[in-house]
Amino acid sequence: VPKEEGESVRKKLLEMGILNTRLKIRVEEGFLLLPITEGSSVDGMEVIEEDFKELPPQVTDYREVARIPKELRDLLPTSFDVIGDIAILKLPEQLAPHATEIGRALMSTFPQLRSVLLDRGVEGEFRVRNLSLIAGDPDTETIHTEYGIRLRVDPSKVYFNPRLAGERRRVASMVEEGETVVDMFAGVGPFSIMISRHSMARQIFAIDLNPDAVRYLRENALLNRAGNVTAIEGDARQILDSLPPADRIIMNLPHSAHEFLGKAAAKLRSGGTIHLYLVSERNQIEGRVRRLLSELEAMGTRLIVASIRQLKTYSPTMGVYAIDLVRC
Ligand SMILES: C[S@@+](CC[C@H](N)C(=O)[O-])C[C@H]1O[C@@H](n2cnc3c(N)ncnc32)[C@H](O)[C@@H]1O
Repeated sequence: VPKEEGESVRKKLLEMGILNTRLKIRVEEGFLLLPITEGSSVDGMEVIEEDFKELPPQVTDYREVARIPKELRDLLPTSFDVIGDIAILKLPEQLAPHATEIGRALMSTFPQLRSVLLDRGVEGEFRVRNLSLIAGDPDTETIHTEYGIRLRVDPSKVYFNPRLAGERRRVASMVEEGETVVDMFAGVGPFSIMISRHSMARQIFAIDLNPDAVRYLRENALLNRAGNVTAIEGDARQILDSLPPADRIIMNLPHSAHEFLGKAAAKLRSGGTIHLYLVSERNQIEGRVRRLLSELEAMGTRLIVASIRQLKTYSPTMGVYAIDLVRC
C-alpha cells in the first residue's frame, strides 16, 4: 500500500486478524509491504508475493524461558506481586531447587525488574514477609507508585500489599471534607497518604508498632507532601486514647483487628465509619460480624453494617473481607 495509507491498512489487517506479526514490515520506494497470513485476501486489494525477514519471537510469559524439568513446568506460578521494581513470588516445595533459574527467567522477561524475591509467608506482630533474594540486586528498598502516590518501602522490613491499591482508593473516595481519620495499622502509610492526596480530610493519624514502618511513613508523608498526616509509633490500642474523636477509622490488620474493635468504636463519632478487615471462613463471615456487633451493643456502642465484600482469597475456603461499619 502507499506509505501514507500504511498505518490505517496495518490496523485494519490487525483487526481482521490476518496481519502476519511474526514477519517484519518492509518499506519500499514510497510503499509499505505488509505481510499477511498465508491464503488470506483483502477486498479491493491485490496480494503480491514477497520475501520478509522473521522477527525474533516475543516472549511475554516467563514460564516459556525458565529452564526447568518439563514435568515441573505446570507448577510455575501464573501470577506474582510487583512492588516498585521488585517481583515477589511464592513457589511450591518442588520448585525450590530451581528458584534461581525462575528468578532469572522473570528478570529476562520483564526488563523493568531489578530484583526477584522468594516469599515464604508473612510472620510475627509486624506482619513482615520472610523474603530471600533469588535474582538481581540485593538492595530490597524500592519506590512503589499507585494512583499517583509514591511509597518508599522495603518489603523485607515492613508489610506492604500492592493488591490493595483499589481498596485504598475506594476508602479515600468516601472521605468528606474536614474529616478526622485514624489509620490504626498504617504500615508505610498507603491508606493515609492516599486519603491525604485524594480527599479533603482535615487530619489523618497514622499509627504503627513497627519502627521501620513509621520511619517509611514519615518519609512517604514528606515525599507526597501529605502535610496532614501525623505518623505515630506505638500500640494503636494505647495511642487511640490520646487522639481526638474520629470520623473514620481504618483497621487493616486482618487476623486480629476484631480484638481492637471495642476501643475503635468508642473513639468513633456518631455517623462515622470503621473500615474493618477480617480473615474469615467464607461461610462464617456474616455470623462473625453479627456476633462482633452484638458484643459491642451489649457494651453500649451500636454499629450497623454498611457493606461486607470479599477483597481477596486467603485459602480455598477463606477470604479477606472489607467490612464497612457505621456508628449509630
Ligand atoms: C497488615 S499490615 C497493614 C499495613 C498497611 N495498612 C498497608 O495496607 O500496607 C498491619 C500493620 O499493623 C502493624 N501492627 C500490628 N499490631 C499493631 C498494634 N497493636 N498497633 C499498631 N500497629 C500494629 C504491623 O506492624 C503492620 O505494619
